[in-house]
Amino acid sequence: MKTPRPLALIIMGVSGSGKSTIGHLLSRATGITFIDADAYHPEANLRKMKHGVPLNDEDRKPWLERLHELIETHIDKEESCILACSALKDNYRRILDKGIEHHVKFIHLDGDISTIRERIHSRSGHFMPPDLLTSQFLTLEKPVEALVYSIESDPEDICNSILEDLTVKAEFGVIGMGVMGCSISRNLATKHIRLALYNREAEGEEALAEKRIKTYPELKEAKGFNDLQEFTSSLSKPRKILLMVPSGVAVNQVVGQLKALLDPGDVIIDGGNSHYKDTQRLSRELQEAGIWFLGCGISGGEKGALTGPSLMPGGHPEGYLIASPYLWLLAAKDKNGAPCCSYLGKDGSGHFVKMVHNGIEYAEMQLLAELYHLMKRGEYSSEKMHEVFSAFNGGPLESYLLSITCDILNYYENGELLLDAILDKAGNKGTGSWASVAGAKTGTPVSMITASLFARYVSFFKEKRVRLNQSFTPPQEPISLEPEILKQAYTLARFMNHVQGFELLQAGISEESYSYALHEVARIWTQGCIIRSVLMETLSATLKDQPEIMLQEETIETAASCRSALQTVIIAAIKGNVATPALSAALNYLNGITEANSPANLIQAQRDYFGAHKYQKREDPSSDFYHTQWE
Ligand code: 6PG
Repeated sequence: MKTPRPLALIIMGVSGSGKSTIGHLLSRATGITFIDADAYHPEANLRKMKHGVPLNDEDRKPWLERLHELIETHIDKEESCILACSALKDNYRRILDKGIEHHVKFIHLDGDISTIRERIHSRSGHFMPPDLLTSQFLTLEKPVEALVYSIESDPEDICNSILEDLTVKAEFGVIGMGVMGCSISRNLATKHIRLALYNREAEGEEALAEKRIKTYPELKEAKGFNDLQEFTSSLSKPRKILLMVPSGVAVNQVVGQLKALLDPGDVIIDGGNSHYKDTQRLSRELQEAGIWFLGCGISGGEKGALTGPSLMPGGHPEGYLIASPYLWLLAAKDKNGAPCCSYLGKDGSGHFVKMVHNGIEYAEMQLLAELYHLMKRGEYSSEKMHEVFSAFNGGPLESYLLSITCDILNYYENGELLLDAILDKAGNKGTGSWASVAGAKTGTPVSMITASLFARYVSFFKEKRVRLNQSFTPPQEPISLEPEILKQAYTLARFMNHVQGFELLQAGISEESYSYALHEVARIWTQGCIIRSVLMETLSATLKDQPEIMLQEETIETAASCRSALQTVIIAAIKGNVATPALSAALNYLNGITEANSPANLIQAQRDYFGAHKYQKREDPSSDFYHTQWE
């Protein structure tokens, strides 16, 4: 049997379903070693079974662990193997495939109790008394992740179908061969996953999927399709299909078409930047058809997709169980080698988390842009700016976004800094505004994200800005800020950005009942994604003990040591007429959230004055509301 990577084929089902028969047939057809799990039961288990005593989970644990070791040894030696093992429960299967999930294929021989009872009665010399069959059926948790074959079929036919599924059919499908879809496919192909790739046929062009496949040597074994039905038929069941198409209309269209072609138990993974509310709706709609829909945030850009992105999946846990071995394989690895991919909760949770990621990304980018602006106005040369940013990048401030900023400040074309030639109009694709709206709707002050979003909007009015500059040319005091002051201001502002971003994540837990842990989200953001940084690495540890970043020792110390630098920077910016919306939002948030006596009492009085909205009184244990006739 020619498979691109060694496989452990675990043939499972209740006793009497024909596991050994199929195992032997497969072994004969392929030359792959057959292992009978029953031969590895400890003596005590065999005795129990002979006396008709059902085994409990305790009894099975050492047996399953031994089997796991056995198949792992085969895989380590790059050898496939066939194991006949009842593996009735999910947690048994998780012991068997732990750490080698993408090498393990469960093959479920499915049959009803009467057919199997008949078979057992006609058998001789089997140590399993037929009466235990009922308990086996009660124990069986049907494996959603398995290839399923009906035992009503002829064993030879079952064997041929298994071989077809394992060697002819693809195991993972990708729809959308744009930059990201293509990079993800190449990533999976290098991990020896049999792929089916689909791209809509563009009129007058050579089929794009075919074209891509030809371009990249990694994809030479992948199959390309321009017909959706042929694509879905080429995949083994349960199908796993990753959508890498633009969010919104395109996702809805493809999902609508797929719905008619897929079967219950199949999984669709939306890997785009979809809105979490759309993902909620599609999850609901598809679940009615028995199809699992996962919304999976993917971060890392083209390079990350190729070498290992950070993955943020949410959706039904059964869908996740089926798709996770592939997602783990695809994802970046954290410093301990664990995949930067974690189950984040129901329906739109993954896309909610990705939206927050992008919000943090917006503010991180804006902070760097503001520092760049201040340095430019302070007449730092591009070489000097490169030097300053590079020096920041050595310690706790190190981040992916800072490092690409250093590269950008050192990128010359024909002797000119390319950055100087780039038009100062920032684009956006929507996730920053969704994060701002989510903050507004959930009562979470994400002022840095919003300030950064609006800074992009302001930048967009280039012509207007140029025109207004003529009439409003403000007196410009020179700006002179030492790198160390900028560094401290940046350090504190980044803390505030992460405080606000993680508050928004917390709102996802309380408002949408998502089930992720904040430290786990930080962990999957330590590698692969755009906001990976040393600070994120720190947070992945500190959030375990203190889920409020504002209350963490390091935040308190940073505020104490860097606050005056942030003030200095903002004062200089104000005097020099430089807009610093993100830096200012950081300081304003710090001032506001640490102010014991805010002026909101006046707001309440005003509201009550004109609208009889009532107010509460300080130090009133009743928390009652009062109204005053102000006039
Ligand atoms: C990522 C990025 C990625 C993309 C966004 C940016 O995590 O890989 O966030 O998803 O760059 O679409 O969106 P804007 O166009 O809104 O900046």
